[in-house]
Amino acid sequence: MCQSKSGVGKTAISVNFAAYCGREGMRTLLVDCDPQTNATFSCIRGEDWVEHAKQYGTMPPCSGAEHCRRDQPQRREDVIKKGVFKNVDLVPSHISLFSWIWT
Ligand SMILES: Nc1ncnc2c1ncn2[C@@H]1O[C@H](COP(=O)(O)OP(=O)(O)O)[C@@H](O)[C@H]1O
Ligand SMILES: [Mg+2]
Repeated sequence: MCQSKSGVGKTAISVNFAAYCGREGMRTLLVDCDPQTNATFSCIRGEDWVEHAKQYGTMPPCSGAEHCRRDQPQRREDVIKKGVFKNVDLVPSHISLFSWIWT
């Protein structure tokens, strides 16, 4: 969902639609490209995000930024956090995407 205006329901719709699709039996990948990471934290707990980010990394475009590179996974698919809802996997975001977007 690509619309920069905030507070219009992008995150709520994306997360709920992903959960709905998963519940209906569709294998679903929710990709959080928003550095505010609200979709990510709608799906996983803060401590799980910290552990996952440390071990496997976060949103891959972030790998273009020097400060993110050290956290990148060895295999790209490892960045996916499996089973955040039934049939739903997540590519978690990271606040550092702000600098990737704006620099
Ligand atoms: N259908 C809805 N009914 C009531 N409140 C909603 C609905 N969709 C979103 N909200 C609320 O509106 C606010 C903004 O939604 P959010 O999805 O975070 O917007 P965005 O991602 O576009 O910035 C949040 O507090 C969210 O809980
Ligand atoms: Mg949002």
